[in-house]
Amino acid sequence: MTLQQEIAKRRTFGIISHPDAGKTTLTEKLLLFGGAIQMAGTVKARKSDRHATSDWMNIEKERGISVSSSVMKFDYRDFEINLLDTPGHQDFSEDTYRVLTAVDSALMVIDSAKGVEPQTEKLMEVCRMRNTPVLTFINKLDREGQFPLDLLADIEEKLQIECAPLSWPIGMGKRFKGVYNLYRNELHLFRPGEDRRKTNIISIDDINSPELDQLLGTQAQELRDDIELLQGAANPFDRDEYLRANQTPVFFGSAINNFGVQEMLDAFVELAPPPGIRAAAERMVAPDEEQFSGFVFKIQANMDPAHRDRIAFLRICSGKFSRGMKVRHHRIGKDISLANATIFMAQDRAHVEEAFPGDIIGLHNHGTIKIGDTFSDKEPLKFTGIPSFAPEHFRRVRLKDPLKSKQLQKGLIQLAEEGAVQVFKPVNGAEFILGAVGVLQFDVTMERLKAEYNVNAVYEGVDFTTARWIRAKDRKRLEEFQKKNQNNLAIDAEGELTYLAASEWRLQHTLEQWEGIEFLKSREYK
Ligand code: G4P
Repeated sequence: MTLQQEIAKRRTFGIISHPDAGKTTLTEKLLLFGGAIQMAGTVKARKSDRHATSDWMNIEKERGISVSSSVMKFDYRDFEINLLDTPGHQDFSEDTYRVLTAVDSALMVIDSAKGVEPQTEKLMEVCRMRNTPVLTFINKLDREGQFPLDLLADIEEKLQIECAPLSWPIGMGKRFKGVYNLYRNELHLFRPGEDRRKTNIISIDDINSPELDQLLGTQAQELRDDIELLQGAANPFDRDEYLRANQTPVFFGSAINNFGVQEMLDAFVELAPPPGIRAAAERMVAPDEEQFSGFVFKIQANMDPAHRDRIAFLRICSGKFSRGMKVRHHRIGKDISLANATIFMAQDRAHVEEAFPGDIIGLHNHGTIKIGDTFSDKEPLKFTGIPSFAPEHFRRVRLKDPLKSKQLQKGLIQLAEEGAVQVFKPVNGAEFILGAVGVLQFDVTMERLKAEYNVNAVYEGVDFTTARWIRAKDRKRLEEFQKKNQNNLAIDAEGELTYLAASEWRLQHTLEQWEGIEFLKSREYK
């Protein structure tokens, strides 16, 4: 198979949703269609990552499960699908943002009773930043929910994206009869509690056919009215608009009943984009270039408790990966051999012989790989757009045993490189300050400092609530700023100067005072 053919059959995507909308359930059904899991409950087992910290820790201890679910590879029809898991808990949203830099499209799951929820909005913002095409699945039609047209209006209004329904529900809750597939002009009948079978699909060329009345009774006319209304009100589907991220095709169904899922998956593989051109700092990189290239978007530690190893997840952007190949690790200027790369199948990880753009491979990392690192054949490249966000929560770390300060430093720097937490060294003061987007990150950090670095430390509260990275063109002005603001300045793990403020109001005040100094809310990994 040629490189182009390999690229054309790959779909790499992530699911975005607010917790409880049904992401886990849907993932499981998708994997079932791909024949990737026989047993229900495999994915479900890690759902508790959004519950209490203790649950999260436990689940992280069962690395076997969490790893194989971080990236799930499965085949469906002629397609090879990479589904990247995004942590459901908003405290780990930084991780989610970074995962979204490695996908080519996203699937948004919405609870039909709740409509667009806060976490959906946030994740959608990230998709919009990158113009990621989004396909929508409105879930839980077997329950009473909002009216479909109201749901579309809600999405359009809150998420600023045009909706183009490709299926339409017939009733909901107790009256839920099925969906009419507008994409194929087929009626799909729903029988609660049963897995949907092919026999429940009825093709109807003419929506006015009396057969529809026999099947749906009075709801047939309701469907006709809805569809007539839709023709006037809804946007016709336009694939280019979807690919440009201006429009989202919408499907309705019930994940738990496995209803509407396969229709959505069929449309997804046909419509969603294969791996495309990606921006590097130097130039645009096309997937079918001969030269291998990829970037690291996630690092996960100690996935195998026996080895205390770290795995860096690399998304291939161009060329072909083959086992044992030598690539250039540009940040440290060394050639390394990718001998033990791992690919993540749904149940297992396996050694890869070859992999192509869109695939995710796992590299063993002994502390030399950071988030954002680019690997390629020879040409120096640096893929862009992997964000780090200004933390909103802060803690000071105080060591219980002062002799462990070296281990603490090592531990914190490695955890920062993994993106688990942000680390700041105050310009005035010896103790590290940690910053996080979600407070659970602190608990995880402390637990890991203990378990992996044998460091016993405690947190103390600290008077900061917000941070900004500092840039300035005028060196003199910068020096002056530094001199006057010593108590609020720190250096982060990448050596970047950061301003820490006690409140938004203070920040605003400083900002107004210091013209010529830039205060950045997010920055890219170096
Ligand atoms: P998440 O990963 O997005 O957080 O959601 P998850 O799949 O865990 O689903 C959240 C809850 O919604 C679960 O119920 C799940 O069974 C239910 N659910 C998912 N899809 C549907 C659907 O199509 N219809 C209905 N009625 N419910 C659905 P739970 O009670 O929280 O968990 P469980 O006891 O079922 O495990």
